[in-house]
Amino acid sequence: MALVLVAAGCGRRLAHERPPRPSEVRDFEQLFARNCSGCHGAEGRLGPAPPLADPLFLAIIPEAEMKRVVSEGRARTLMPAFAREQGGTLTAEQVDIVISGVRKKWAGKPDDTAGPLPDYLAPADKTDVHARANREEAFQVFALSCGNCHGTSGQGGNEAGPLKNAAFLSLVSDQALRRIVITGRPDLGMPDFRKLGAMLPAGQPLTNEQIADVVALVASWRRPVEQSQTASAAAAGGSSER
Ligand code: HEC
Ligand code: HEC
Repeated sequence: MALVLVAAGCGRRLAHERPPRPSEVRDFEQLFARNCSGCHGAEGRLGPAPPLADPLFLAIIPEAEMKRVVSEGRARTLMPAFAREQGGTLTAEQVDIVISGVRKKWAGKPDDTAGPLPDYLAPADKTDVHARANREEAFQVFALSCGNCHGTSGQGGNEAGPLKNAAFLSLVSDQALRRIVITGRPDLGMPDFRKLGAMLPAGQPLTNEQIADVVALVASWRRPVEQSQTASAAAAGGSSER
């Protein structure tokens, strides 16, 4: 009898003290540490995935897009879907807690977010990406801005690694490239669109158009095989384009 009581009491205490089920965690710090920090970094920076602790990034990403990315993930990248309906592990409430926690903790600093800011999502655009990647403007932005650090043809330089790297590019979406050109990687010493644009003759922050051009150019290095096929097909078909 005593044994039963002890066991029952013990069971009660354990039930009372058991850690909350994953679906019951409502604390931002815990949710972030368990689900996000492995890729985005313990303090939302210095991880392999783009930093979330970045006021400029948080100023430009629309609320709906933030919610969509966290809930649904990003196709063909390592960003997983977290919403339960998408096979993820977080309840809708937890997704909201993580998003508002990220904003509460890291949004802000007025100097980073002053002045007109580029669009996070590429504006609606009818220009074909191949045409865009071949625009003179794309090469100019790359050579005069990115080239200073990443090497004039993206092969890597003293300040930063190569961008002409199919393995890296196969893991990163055009949207993430766009975001990095806008925000830079302040945690790794890459400047944002203002300083990048200041390296061009006009000395102005990069425009939506210039950002789209340089992203198209870098993205065109993702598929070197396709690109050279296109090039040889064009050569075989004559130079009617020019
Ligand atoms: C397994 C790694 C991984 C985990 C875990 C992860 N992410 Fe990501 N996340 C990524 C990668 C990689 C990208 C960039 C994807 C791309 O190329 O567009 C990304 C992109 C994002 C973006 C868009 C960023 C941008 O630059 O546009 C947001 C917002 C985001 N993640 C939030 C979160 C949150 C919140 C969590 C935790 C609930 C989380 N992620 C967990 C890898 C991860
Ligand atoms: C002042 C030097 C500098 C300039 C200019 C610069 N970058 Fe970077 N960039 C860096 C550094 C430093 C890193 C991080 C270390 C690395 O990847 O070598 C980086 C990283 C990146 C990454 C990878 C980010 C990641 O999350 O892994 C991309 C993509 C990138 N740069 C694109 C560009 C493009 C496109 C331009 C021109 C519009 C540009 N950079 C101009 C210094 C620079």
